[in-house]
Amino acid sequence: MVKAVRFHETGGPEVLKLEDVAVGDPGPGEARVRHTYIAVNFIDTYFRTGRYALDLPNGLGSDAVGVVEAVGPGVTDIKAGDRVGYLIGPQGAYSEARVMPAAVLIPLPDGVSDRTAATLMMKGMTAQYLFRQVYPLHGGETILYHAAAGGVGLIACQWARALGVTMIGTVSTDEKAEIAKANGCTHTIVTSRENIAQRVRELTDGRGVKVVYDSVGKDTLMASLDSLQPRGHLISNGTSSGAVVVDSQLLAQKGSLWMTRPAMIHYIHPRAHMLEMARELFDHVLAGRITSEPRQTFALAEASEAHRALEGRKTTGATVLVP
Ligand SMILES: NC(=O)c1ccc[n+]([C@@H]2O[C@H](COP(=O)([O-])OP(=O)(O)OC[C@H]3O[C@@H](n4cnc5c(N)ncnc54)[C@H](OP(=O)(O)O)[C@@H]3O)[C@@H](O)[C@H]2O)c1
Repeated sequence: MVKAVRFHETGGPEVLKLEDVAVGDPGPGEARVRHTYIAVNFIDTYFRTGRYALDLPNGLGSDAVGVVEAVGPGVTDIKAGDRVGYLIGPQGAYSEARVMPAAVLIPLPDGVSDRTAATLMMKGMTAQYLFRQVYPLHGGETILYHAAAGGVGLIACQWARALGVTMIGTVSTDEKAEIAKANGCTHTIVTSRENIAQRVRELTDGRGVKVVYDSVGKDTLMASLDSLQPRGHLISNGTSSGAVVVDSQLLAQKGSLWMTRPAMIHYIHPRAHMLEMARELFDHVLAGRITSEPRQTFALAEASEAHRALEGRKTTGATVLVP
């Protein structure tokens, strides 16, 4: 038996309960992983609240790192003792150990610690696919990026700096603005006292930006559209403040804008491509262009506290659970 966080009903952070669950031996194509760190992501709160549906009771989380304890028949590229991480697969990462499809496991290179890797799997791979695949940046662009001091945000700040991209990042407080800037964000807009679109126009000599990465959603939608150049791109990659509904006529009125709602799952297959994405991310880390450590650490048993902090906008950078 191992300890795992599970929930039997959707709701607030209090529905998360630490329970004993059985972990069997891996079957064909599977591996058993003993976690060293479990990453907390905003998407976990969507499952917990029921915004994203799951059969209940269920485990939670899809992002962790650890050591392979055993592999099942047919698994050839992962073996017992390997250090691995993952960011997709069935919910249930909030646990001491679990059985996973081996095909989703990403080997961790020497030189990238488990603690660092726990901040990179979902968050770093998200920065990779947003900046290198959804709207590929080449350097020289000016972008608007919301929640720049968040978990994905602090890696995005550093990736933008590495690419030579001018990043205008939104944050809710001056303290978060300092953290974003220290990570490479060029300009910050403090949303509690500044008008986003107006500041973007000031910072771009009235032109607006070619692309906005908006993970906040409902509260920032109009500001994002108003910050774009004609034929600019809105990458609506999250809904931290609530869902986004857009009348396509509005996209025409605001300048024949493009809009996409990307999901990681459509950018990460086949496995060879996922490993190539990870290699690019790890290369940045090994070269020192991206440095990342958890900024909040909770015990596995304190998962509900971690959710309260994340939803309450009390966190910066990555949050992890330690089993
Ligand atoms: N599409 C994908 O494939 C994908 C993959 C990974 C993550 N995401 C999305 O990317 C976003 C970032 O994820 P993360 O795990 O790194 O979280 P995070 O950015 O660390 O946390 C969310 C941040 O959003 C900001 N925010 C603005 N309005 C908010 C509100 N009403 N409630 C809560 N937060 C609010 C807060 O920053 P301020 O206080 O500075 O405003 C908060 O710190 C999430 O929306 C997530 O769903 C999408």
